[in-house]
Amino acid sequence: MAVTILAIESSCDDTSAAIIRDGYILSNLIAGQEIHKSYGGVVPELASRAHQVNIVPVVDQAFKKAGVSVSDVDAVAFTRGPGLLGSLLVGTSFAKGFALTRNIPLIEVNHLQAHVLVHFILREGSEKRVPGFPFLCLLVSGGHTRIILMKDHLSMEVIGNTIDDAAGEAFDKCGKFMGFTYPAGPAIDQLARSGNKKAFSFSKPSVRGLDFSFSGLKTSFLYFLRDRLKEDPGFIEKNRADLCASLQHTIVTILTGKLVKASIETGIKEVGIAGGVSANSGLRETVTAEAEKRGWNIFIPELSLTTDNAAMIGISGYYKYLRGEFTGQDVAPLARF
Ligand code: KG4
Ligand code: ZN
Repeated sequence: MAVTILAIESSCDDTSAAIIRDGYILSNLIAGQEIHKSYGGVVPELASRAHQVNIVPVVDQAFKKAGVSVSDVDAVAFTRGPGLLGSLLVGTSFAKGFALTRNIPLIEVNHLQAHVLVHFILREGSEKRVPGFPFLCLLVSGGHTRIILMKDHLSMEVIGNTIDDAAGEAFDKCGKFMGFTYPAGPAIDQLARSGNKKAFSFSKPSVRGLDFSFSGLKTSFLYFLRDRLKEDPGFIEKNRADLCASLQHTIVTILTGKLVKASIETGIKEVGIAGGVSANSGLRETVTAEAEKRGWNIFIPELSLTTDNAAMIGISGYYKYLRGEFTGQDVAPLARF
């Protein structure tokens, strides 16, 4: 019998609902929140209020798009954490209410695990290509930068982690210095295409093992701009594309270097990237080139599944459903999971 999951994601500033049936995506609706743009980052209080406004219409659209009715749903999967508590509470409460009314199981999902499981989402009519195990995945988002070794769908080991900022934060904070609105990653990516990536060089951290560090880069970028602006107040304006290309090149080099190291050390050639920063065109190109050079079986998510979405919560929920891993109604969201 088919297994139909309603999935809810509300960990940060996107309200998302998806319907997943037997691992296939039937719908994946995302309502973003423009309101944070002028604040330079996500304002937790505003995010949770916007989730409250968005959640019912987004779920309603997810059902309509999937052509599925409420009575078809076998379980509700939701993001328990990590994330902003007020935001998580909205999705968690909605999921609990839905499961209670329909008398169906509730499934909690770890947002980070879900980003990696994006590679197992199936699409009707497209090639069924999923990673084999063990699978090595670089998870790069606004809050996390990790190398994850996946032994099966639900068993993951973090073998590399950032010791300070995440890669997405480096894009966003350096972007803020250049006058971009939040999140700056997509705009930097866009401008980098017309810039010279060798125009400027920024210090790369020397962190041991498979760990990362991005706070030094942020500081060196800031000091570099401050010094140049003293000489020429129009420096950013005149060099915007080159600054974006050079910054992106530095971040991508750091990320790819550690992913290559992880593959060599573990001997794993099933390799992927996931998370918001995996939308970055420079990272996608560099990782693809490394894959060709090193004989990796590479997995790069489709763009709509790189940033926060409920389909990834749904696929995680599906695998948990198959194992009977359900959650009680007394579950509370966890900001740190
Ligand atoms: O995974 P995600 O949607 O949310 C978190 O869980 O953090 O990731 C958001 C992050 C932001 O820092 C944003 O700037 C970055 O992903 N991002 C990008 C690109 N698209 C999104 N960074 C670089 N290039 C992109 N094209
Ligand atoms: Zn995320």
